Amino acid sequence: MTAPAPLQHLPPDELEGVGEDTWLDVIHKMEEVYSKLVSDEVELEDKNAQLEQSQQFIFSLLSAMSDVLIACNQDGLIEETNAALCALVGRSEQALRGTPVLDLLADAQSVERWQLAKYHAASHEVAVVEINLFDALGQAVPVDMNCTPRHNSNGRQVGCVLVGRPLGELKRAYHQLREAHEALKLAQQQLLHSEKMASLGRLVAGVAHELNNPISFVLGNVHVLKRYGTRLTRYLQAIHQLDLSAPVQALRGELRIDHLLDDLPSLMEGTLEGAKRTADIVNGLKRFSTAGQEKVTEVELNAVVERAIHWIQKGTSPRFEIRWVRGADCFVNGNAGELLQVMMNLIQNASDAASSGAAKAPLLFISLERDPQSVHLRFADNGPGIAPEHLSRIFDPFFTTKSVGQGTGLGLSISYGIVEQHGGHLTCINLPQGGTLFTLSLPLRQSS
Ligand SMILES: Nc1ncnc2c1ncn2[C@@H]1O[C@H](COP(=O)(O)OP(=O)(O)OP(=O)(O)O)[C@@H](O)[C@H]1O
Ligand SMILES: [Mg+2]
Repeated sequence: MTAPAPLQHLPPDELEGVGEDTWLDVIHKMEEVYSKLVSDEVELEDKNAQLEQSQQFIFSLLSAMSDVLIACNQDGLIEETNAALCALVGRSEQALRGTPVLDLLADAQSVERWQLAKYHAASHEVAVVEINLFDALGQAVPVDMNCTPRHNSNGRQVGCVLVGRPLGELKRAYHQLREAHEALKLAQQQLLHSEKMASLGRLVAGVAHELNNPISFVLGNVHVLKRYGTRLTRYLQAIHQLDLSAPVQALRGELRIDHLLDDLPSLMEGTLEGAKRTADIVNGLKRFSTAGQEKVTEVELNAVVERAIHWIQKGTSPRFEIRWVRGADCFVNGNAGELLQVMMNLIQNASDAASSGAAKAPLLFISLERDPQSVHLRFADNGPGIAPEHLSRIFDPFFTTKSVGQGTGLGLSISYGIVEQHGGHLTCINLPQGGTLFTLSLPLRQSS
């Protein structure tokens, strides 16, 4: 059977001759087409409803996610985000769509990490990076991001998906915890150190007290002995001018009286010198344990620093350079003489240390910095620094690395006592670039 010719191609006179069967066929075909159309329409509506449902499902998932989400294309342009990201960055989904992910990154390091994550994603790897995003107020918020490659239905990579959790609060809390822990450790160390210095102070005060009397009468007697020695020498020299009998002459030789008379002055000088040095040490010990008992007045620190520099420079090599710029007046409550003593000792120590190596020109930087409560004087030298095993001992009385006669090891312990009595702190660290930094912190006089 041949198919009926299409009606519209038949001339009108020919239509008149078309048989009833042909018309029935046409009507039948039309019905078939119509019912196909209707069933297609129903199917389409079903599919539309399913699509809408799954879109709604995806939307509810994205909205419910507390993690931030960014889906971007191969050029790094944002295609999809979620409510958590919009809330974090303070921009709507429409505003974000089509913008580069780069625009959300807060610093160069985050940009570098994002590039690295994209590179990993291109090799079908999942990358975990910590990046900083700008939040709604323009501040950096750290986010722990997973970057995963995204593929189309053909399996071709079309971009990547970033999912992450803002670490802001957690990190801040962790940071605060760590700071509190460090402060606690420092306070504990300072407490231990103060206790150690306090018990040393008591011990030293006792020793100084016990030594004080004997040493003062040794010193007094040596002075008298020296005078007596001079007189006896004069007397014996006068006798030796006389015509002495043979037994006396023999005794003079046997007892080596001439040699003894020659030796006597240097023996007396040596004894006197030793007694004086011992008295100095005892005085130092007394100063260590009684520091802070001097008269307290208003002291301007710039002036004290300058006086200390002036006195030390008189006795040190001209090669030793001190860099110091006087700042605005800065007042503390204290004893100017004691504070001068502390600063002179710190500068003298710096000069000794910095001059010990011939290679570098010895240099000391002194700076004064204040905060609302305190003033911090810093003494940074370019010496060899302090051996790590010595750092915990340098404030102990008699700790010295200088040769005998060069240092008593009392300077820093006395300074420590003075500063503590002034309500301040004296601390010391080695600088990363070499050299030592002593920081002298004192409470500011509140009216200044
Ligand atoms: N700026 C510094 N650089 C390196 N080491 C230092 C510095 N200041 C102090 N020291 C070390 O600390 C030790 C103790 O110093 P301290 O001032 O108490 O005693 P000293 O200088 O040895 O003797 P003195 O009683 O004459 O002051 C020094 O011997 C030295 O080893
Ligand atoms: Mg010293």
